[in-house]
Amino acid sequence: MAASIIVPLANGPYLVTGPIKLLDPEGREFTVQGDKIALCRCGGSSNKPFCDGTHKRTAFKAETKAS
Ligand code: FES
Repeated sequence: MAASIIVPLANGPYLVTGPIKLLDPEGREFTVQGDKIALCRCGGSSNKPFCDGTHKRTAFKAETKAS
């Protein structure tokens, strides 16, 4: 099985590609179409855990670089 890849986009969501199984805290599975999703990390999405673009309106800032 191929590994999933998670990329924290500059000033944006976590972009997840690959085989995806996303569960809520009770273990119920979210319906995911395809093999790419964007997960909110700004906290502003109205469709959590998915990004809905709110980070652009709130000017969310988060640079994440591996050391
Ligand atoms: S990161 Fe896009 S709405 Fe939060």
